[in-house]
Amino acid sequence: MITLAVETSCDETALALYSSKEGAIGDVLLSQAKLHSPFGGVVPELSAREHTRNLLPLLDRLLKETGFDLKEVDFLSFTLTPGLILSLVVGVSFAKSIAYSFEKPLVPVHHLEGHIYSVFLDREVEYPFVALIVSGGHTDLFLVEGFGRYRFLGGTLDDAVGESYDKVAKMLGLGYPGGPVIDRLAREGKPLYRLPRPLIDSEDLNFSFSGLKTAVMNLLRKEREYRVEDVTASFQEAVVEVLLKKSVSAMERTGVRRLVIVGGVSANSRLREVFSERARELGFELHIPPVRLSTDNALMIAYAGIERFKRGITAPLDINAEPNIPLEEFGKLWS
Ligand code: KG4
Ligand code: ZN
Repeated sequence: MITLAVETSCDETALALYSSKEGAIGDVLLSQAKLHSPFGGVVPELSAREHTRNLLPLLDRLLKETGFDLKEVDFLSFTLTPGLILSLVVGVSFAKSIAYSFEKPLVPVHHLEGHIYSVFLDREVEYPFVALIVSGGHTDLFLVEGFGRYRFLGGTLDDAVGESYDKVAKMLGLGYPGGPVIDRLAREGKPLYRLPRPLIDSEDLNFSFSGLKTAVMNLLRKEREYRVEDVTASFQEAVVEVLLKKSVSAMERTGVRRLVIVGGVSANSRLREVFSERARELGFELHIPPVRLSTDNALMIAYAGIERFKRGITAPLDINAEPNIPLEEFGKLWS
């Protein structure tokens, strides 16, 4: 079984060919980071326009690189939700056009489900496991009991963690996306400033990052002279500590000693270091995908698409992109 996967939910235009037997056949990706960098965040209209411009040339490249023909594809997998609606519409319409022209089935995938299964592209993970999803749009904890069986445990009440990286980077004039550059600078700095760890001791498994961002802003106003490296190291230390504490609480509550961390922020080197140390100390299983699969890509959509198709899940040709179907609901709706 071979699928062509389409991912356009945010600022990455990505396509992949994936075989259920052989694994990845090929994948191509165009990042719009440079385009959005002057604005310190993704501009939705620009993003949608770029997806429209790039999808066909990218498909052409993917087919040339792999020597594949669209006729050999068994079905289309595509990100239906959540994401920037204009950007999603472009990818969904693209997948629908190919499905219609080549008479292929359409398989809708949830972007967060794609992220969760990004780790399966690298290794099999046993169920059940706790999934910490940390991206530009989400900071969520789920209990995953099987494919399509997602129980929401907690999430952010305001900014997503990746968003807070991006906003802090913007304040420091570091461009977009903020995660990779803060990751790099923080390695050269010391966490000299004590910043708040929002909700770290709260009873629930929710997060809040907007106060932390404001605390960084106040710090920059107060300190006339500072090293950006030390500010970013202090910010990152607070973020990682909160994520760790809540993930450990989620495992304690569910009695599940297996943690999967996915999404763009899981590329973070300090997060990887701290979680690996704690996993050894506390004796839990930890799975984080390789860095190139942490951030948005189409291989993860292909993997989840194959799993959905195996279960007989397809969508009609009049299906529409949706800005935000919760993952737990999506799992029930489509399985
Ligand atoms: O999963 P993703 O590629 O897109 C969304 O679904 O949002 O995540 C993008 C986010 C951005 O906010 C970016 O700043 C962050 O992931 N990110 C990182 C790192 N690489 C990307 N955050 C921290 N450290 C990194 N190395
Ligand atoms: Zn994502």
